[in-house]
Amino acid sequence: MLVTLKKVLQKAQKEHYAVGAFNVNNLEILQGIIRAAEKMHSPVIFQTSEGAIQYAGLEYLFGLMQIASKVKIPVVIHLDHGKNIELIKKCIKIGYSSVMFDGSSLPLSENVALSQEIVRLASKYGASVEAEIGVLRGIEDFIQVPKQRAYLTDPKDAEEFVHLTKCDALAVAIGTSHGAYKFKGESKLDFTRLHEIQKRVKIPLVLHGASGIPHNIVSYAQKHCKTLHSCARLEGAHGVSNIAIRNAIRMGICKINIDTDLRIAFTGGVLNTLFENKKVFDPRIYLGKGQELVQEVVEEKMRLFGSAGKA
Ligand code: G3H
Ligand code: 13P
Ligand code: ZN
Repeated sequence: MLVTLKKVLQKAQKEHYAVGAFNVNNLEILQGIIRAAEKMHSPVIFQTSEGAIQYAGLEYLFGLMQIASKVKIPVVIHLDHGKNIELIKKCIKIGYSSVMFDGSSLPLSENVALSQEIVRLASKYGASVEAEIGVLRGIEDFIQVPKQRAYLTDPKDAEEFVHLTKCDALAVAIGTSHGAYKFKGESKLDFTRLHEIQKRVKIPLVLHGASGIPHNIVSYAQKHCKTLHSCARLEGAHGVSNIAIRNAIRMGICKINIDTDLRIAFTGGVLNTLFENKKVFDPRIYLGKGQELVQEVVEEKMRLFGSAGKA
């Protein structure tokens, strides 16, 4: 059933687990996510980036997610990294139960003013709002932040920001980044900072850039194509460790965003199916394998985040 982010995260905060927010770009990824959630009996957040909406179309994506949300478990339909105010408004009006306003790269006062405007509009439609303070490094379609422009969340600013904006969830920057290359080796998150933020901010906190880039998925994706650029690029990629994820949940992280792990799994499924079955040209066969692997990754995340069995 479709529910708001606020509702799902309030329960998670009370019971000390986190809910996975998984990026949806097409039908097969969505099927992988919802099948995992139903099997694990877990609440789930579908999220679409502005890039995903540009690729697939808002009505198509929303239509698919709306149908997928007609299940017994709680489902949130959320806009990820909304920067375009007109698009955020469209998402709220079409029926998203939650939107993120990402004003993190704006001056603080502008971020506050625009977040307030989005909170006002969303509340008229019964939708929740996630806002962000602090900037993550990383390169995605609409989110391109070089190292020099990234900065970690200031706990005092975070407290003031939540007080002024009345947002429902707050994304914080504590050392993660978007994409496959997060760390040179072991993941290092600023838990002292997270602890300070948790002391000052009472609403649920959100961790972006939380993919683990698990070795088994990466090596599966690279099985037949060590020399192909798209696979070879993953050499030396390090994500957020499971230990770091568990610590973050203990310190108030209630929503965890995962996209890159799904991309790697999906691509691995498609590549391997095509390499291993030279006669296959039925998209249902290779996309179906991508979908299966997305489901496996999502199930694993739900166990790790402690949301399995919480629906
Ligand atoms: O945090 C960003 C997500 O990974 C979305 O990436 O803008 O390339 O769809 P995208
Ligand atoms: P990853 O790139 O680590 O999967 O992060 C995704 C994300 O934060 C989406 O908002
Ligand atoms: Zn993000």
